[in-house]
Amino acid sequence: MDSTFIARLLGTPPKSSSSVQFLDKIIRRAFPWVRVDSTWRGGGMASIESRMNLFHLLSQVIAYEVQGDVVELGCNSGESSVVMQKIIITMQQNKQFHVFDSFCGVPESGSEDENVYKAGDMSVSETQFRMNFEKTELPVPVIHKGWFDDTLQPNLPDKIAFALIDGDLYDPTLLALNSVYPRLSSGAICYFGIYWDPEGDDCLTKKMTYKSPGVKKACDEFFKEKPENISVLLSGSYTSGYFRKL
Ligand SMILES: C[S@@+](CC[C@H](N)C(=O)[O-])C[C@H]1O[C@@H](n2cnc3c(N)ncnc32)[C@H](O)[C@@H]1O
Repeated sequence: MDSTFIARLLGTPPKSSSSVQFLDKIIRRAFPWVRVDSTWRGGGMASIESRMNLFHLLSQVIAYEVQGDVVELGCNSGESSVVMQKIIITMQQNKQFHVFDSFCGVPESGSEDENVYKAGDMSVSETQFRMNFEKTELPVPVIHKGWFDDTLQPNLPDKIAFALIDGDLYDPTLLALNSVYPRLSSGAICYFGIYWDPEGDDCLTKKMTYKSPGVKKACDEFFKEKPENISVLLSGSYTSGYFRKL
C-alpha cells in the first residue's frame, strides 16, 4: 500500500513545531482554563517522518504475518491511531486494535523525567479522539480509558504483533514495557514515538527541543537483562526508537 494517505489524513505538520510548543506552554501558564491540545491549532502531535516510521514498521509486521493484535499505549487525540487503523484495514481485517489513554494527559512526572512535563499536559478528550475517526470514516478501535496502572493488565490482548508505546514519561514507559513485552510474539515490533538519545542529537541539524529523557531511562533499565536492543530512528527534528522481539 502507498503511504500518501498519511498527508491526506493528517496534513503536513507545522514546520515550526518547537515554536508552536513554546506558544502552547505560554498559553497554558497564562490561561490555565484554556484547553491546549495538538488539534486545536491544526498542527500535529508528531512529525510526518515519525508517521512514516510507524507506517513502515506496522505494515512490515502485517506483511510478515506476525501473530497477534495491535496496541497503542498513549493514543492522545488519535492522530497516530488513524494511521494505524488505516494500515490494519487496508492490509488485513482480522487484527484487533486496542488504544489506551487517560484522556486527561500525562500523570505527575518523576525525577527521571527532568521536569519536561507537568501533570495534565497533552490532555485531550475521548470525544476529540472519536471525532478524528468520524472525520476519517475509519472504525473506532477498542478504547481503554484510564491510567495504564488500571487498564493494561486486564485489557491487553494475550498476543501482540505491534505496539506503539507513547506515554513520554519514565513510569508509564516502564509499566508499558513490563506489561507488553511478555505478550509480544516473536518478530513483533514495539515502536516508541519519541526516544530521545543525547548521543543521537549529533546527527540532527538542530539540537532536539522535544525531549522525553524518561523514555530512554526506562528502556535502559528494562533491556539490561534482555536480548533485544533499541534502534534509534530519525523522525525529522527528533528521534524515535523501536525493537523487534526475538
Ligand atoms: C505523546 S502523547 C501520544 C501521542 C500519540 N501517540 C500520537 O502520536 O499522536 C502521550 C499520551 O500518553 C498518555 N499517557 C501518558 N501516561 C499515561 C498513563 N500512565 N496512563 C494513561 N495515559 C497516559 C497521555 O494522556 C497522552 O495523551
